[in-house]
Amino acid sequence: MDGIDAALVDLSGDRPELIRAQTSAWPEALHARILKTATTPDQTSLQEAGRLDAELGEQFAVAALDLMAQAGFNSHQITAIGSHGQTLLHAPGDQPAFSLQLGDANRIAERTGITTVADFRRRDIAAGGQGAPLVPAFHQALFHDPATPRAILNIGGIANLTLLPADRQAVTGFDTGPGNVLLDAWYCKTRHGDYDERGAWAQSGELNRPLLTRLLDHPYFSQPPPRSTGRELFCLHWLEERLQQLPHTPSDADIQRTLAEFTAQTIASSLQRFGPPVQQVLVCGGGAHNDFLMQRLASLLPEQQVETTERYGLHPDWVEAVAFAWLAKQALAGKAGNIPAVTGANRPVILGSIYPGRIRKR
Ligand SMILES: Nc1ncnc2c1ncn2[C@@H]1O[C@H](COP(=O)(O)OP(=O)(O)OP(=O)(O)O)[C@@H](O)[C@H]1O
Ligand SMILES: [Mg+2]
Repeated sequence: MDGIDAALVDLSGDRPELIRAQTSAWPEALHARILKTATTPDQTSLQEAGRLDAELGEQFAVAALDLMAQAGFNSHQITAIGSHGQTLLHAPGDQPAFSLQLGDANRIAERTGITTVADFRRRDIAAGGQGAPLVPAFHQALFHDPATPRAILNIGGIANLTLLPADRQAVTGFDTGPGNVLLDAWYCKTRHGDYDERGAWAQSGELNRPLLTRLLDHPYFSQPPPRSTGRELFCLHWLEERLQQLPHTPSDADIQRTLAEFTAQTIASSLQRFGPPVQQVLVCGGGAHNDFLMQRLASLLPEQQVETTERYGLHPDWVEAVAFAWLAKQALAGKAGNIPAVTGANRPVILGSIYPGRIRKR
């Protein structure tokens, strides 16, 4: 949501080698439209959804071509593109369950000439799963260490945990709840800019206990896995409803402080409540740059070593993008990408649809 992440990865060896990665900014007007659609989906017309799908597909193609140019690669040197797409709606609890990602992969394959794998979530949902989280299989492949039980914590808009106990087969994972989504939404509404740099503003505020209690009082946090959630539930509107229930409105900075605490507590308590014991928590995603959030996590998890994934083989900014390159490789190799114990699917399935690139002459 904050930009388009693209990673060029060599997956020919035992471990993924990141060749180059970059985040391209959204055109401003397009960013406003996707944010609006993701937070108030019921106000989006079918026409707007169709246009966004096409426009996002073009943007993703440009991001891929630009990364290749920066890295000095041409399309013949690239085996495939894995494109997650922009999530506009994730509704695993609806009847029927569904998850909607936009960014027409036909356009990516056509503009780049490269075979593109996209639409990773819906096969898992068709097999009875939540379609999320999908990164645990990659976390397991990259970060499992039989000598050190670990959790991988991705703090994106929503935060998700992968638990990697000593037994390789026993991997689990789930969404803990909001990651940066509420922190960003409140910052954006009350200050200038997109996010609270290093969490400094949150740190300047006082914790407001009545607000914290109201935020924690949501059934999602006591629901056992499999579970996943999205921006349509945890959004500014949800926060504002809870603020209205308070007898006294806290200051803007106190609200930011309390949101940081809420985010850290829901992560820590879901790890303690639903996960096997782990020694390390390796953090990735943009939230790894929020020093105050990291500090709160470390103090709420005194038994664990909390650090970023950087020392363990992959910079925290690129774990997710590399995961979808890896999932594309799984799909093309005819291998499953989901973990049924994580998503709740009734079997392992191959994730993604394949959009062939340009047929090459021999
Ligand atoms: N220097 C920083 N200080 C504080 N927060 C930061 C910093 N850098 C990034 N972030 C946070 O990380 C967010 C981006 O994280 P990330 O790219 O992992 O998530 P996303 O793309 O919004 O979501 P998702 O991965 O769920 O689609 C920013 O919106 C911001 O909240
Ligand atoms: Mg991002």
